[in-house]
Amino acid sequence: MKKVSFLLSIMFLAIAMIACSSDAGGETDSKTVGIAMPTKSSERWVYDGENMKKEFEDLGYEVDLQYAEDVVENQLSQIENMITKGVDILVIASIDGSALTDVLEQAKSQEIPVIAYDRLIMNSEHVSYYATFDNFKVGVLQGQYIEEQLGLAKGEGPYNIELFAGSPDDNNAYFFWDGAMSVLQPYIDEGQLVVQSGQTDFEQGATLRWSGSEAQERMDNLLSAHYSSEKIDVVYSPFDGISRGVISSLKAVGYGSDDNPMPIVTGQDAELASVKSIIAGEQTQTIFKDTRELAKKAVNMADSVLNNEEPEVNDTETYDNGVKVVPSYLLEPISVDINNYQEALIDTGYFTEEELE
Ligand code: GAL
Repeated sequence: MKKVSFLLSIMFLAIAMIACSSDAGGETDSKTVGIAMPTKSSERWVYDGENMKKEFEDLGYEVDLQYAEDVVENQLSQIENMITKGVDILVIASIDGSALTDVLEQAKSQEIPVIAYDRLIMNSEHVSYYATFDNFKVGVLQGQYIEEQLGLAKGEGPYNIELFAGSPDDNNAYFFWDGAMSVLQPYIDEGQLVVQSGQTDFEQGATLRWSGSEAQERMDNLLSAHYSSEKIDVVYSPFDGISRGVISSLKAVGYGSDDNPMPIVTGQDAELASVKSIIAGEQTQTIFKDTRELAKKAVNMADSVLNNEEPEVNDTETYDNGVKVVPSYLLEPISVDINNYQEALIDTGYFTEEELE
């Protein structure tokens, strides 16, 4: 009996020692990832950051996660600090995609690789990879939604539409716009869609920093200048935050009642407030981009780079940042409205039923 317990204690000791030594090994080996996110003011970036942090930590990395409240200078100094602290890799969702050229030169001189997260970093050779969604397709899905809802392919119309674009310092904004216009422009040319304001250029519809309040202000102006006798039937919005600004403006002049229904309003990101708005019959549609999947992709990319392996990419042609074509992984966006939000967002565990109440 004594012998057995002696053997057992030796075994326990051995296991404990192995556990300890692998712990210590983990600590001395562990690498740090610097994650620079644009803002907490839009909930999607909060999820993106949290998801990545968790995934990286599960793989044994240390994480320095920073948000810059949409101020370019904050983001620059956060990245500089990360470089000074000697992070092993940077994952960046930029605020202004063209403002990082100099700071990335510093990263390059320290041999810190850089992964662009969701938004392409422009004008820098020092961007190793890009993880995002098929951004052109996002625009196409939004455009097709309008096309189908209005029966445009069957020749219906004319309908009044106003057009919003995203932030001109975000490369994605042009992809969304171009994708949407690839569907809508022919109907505008044919007169099935009428833009009463005449504001049909990207620059005229652009919304700096994707600001909901800026969009609301522009919508106020459009409604008072062009829709006192006309009704508006559709608002093309590329992003939920913009859509919510537009909807506040529409409600303020009486849209959203039985005899004055809400126009079709598109969106993107399936933000909680917008999904609730869809359920309440205000916003019409959004694009679901599963941030859990994007986070996983970016984490796998970073992990491969740090292990000197080639990350998986599926596009080596589309994303030219002005200096090089950045090898990319594009995930699939999904169009969501009242008919499929349950299946797309609840059944997949993205939101719980209670969150949407
Ligand atoms: C874009 C992104 C969109 C949306 C927007 C505003 O870069 O691709 O999904 O989040 O920024 O945050």
